[in-house]
Amino acid sequence: MKTVQVKDKTFSVSISEAEILRRVHEVAAQIDKDLAGERPLLLSVLNGSFMFASDLIRGIETPCEISFVRMASYSGTTSTGRVKQLLGLNEDIEGRTVVIVEDIIDSGLTMKELIAILQAKHPKEIRIAALLVKPGNLKVELDIPYCCFEIPNDFIVGYGLDYDGYGRNLRDIYTVVE
Ligand code: HPA
Ligand code: MG
Repeated sequence: MKTVQVKDKTFSVSISEAEILRRVHEVAAQIDKDLAGERPLLLSVLNGSFMFASDLIRGIETPCEISFVRMASYSGTTSTGRVKQLLGLNEDIEGRTVVIVEDIIDSGLTMKELIAILQAKHPKEIRIAALLVKPGNLKVELDIPYCCFEIPNDFIVGYGLDYDGYGRNLRDIYTVVE
């Protein structure tokens, strides 16, 4: 079994590069079919989605744009505590079809916050493209029309995803070995 060491943990391959690319291209073809003529704006959520966004956009043939954003914790006091803000969105999304490109949806809470922030800017439509979803951890209801893989709750690295900053450069997706 192909394994790799990232910092203090050992990981073994769970989704190969070939499998990832095959599925990402399928999802790109679905986006082409659904959004032809829409001139969608892809919003790649950094850091983790850079590799997925790069392969996804190269699979999309319909004219589209891409922008890179980040969700950051907001340092202020509110009644609810931790609040996130959106950084890096320079485009006017009013009336536009937006495709959020995310590496992984875990609890779904960050995605809910991102959608609320974007909805306030009156886009025509928001669709989610996620490389990975952990359905067992979801705490909110989300419609994810472009999900590449559903995975168990185990910790993973590779293909853009990190363990404490490392492992993003791995071509395959690896699961932690207990
Ligand atoms: N790996 C890396 N980053 C993550 C994960 C994971 O399993 N879940 C949420 N962010
Ligand atoms: Mg991370």
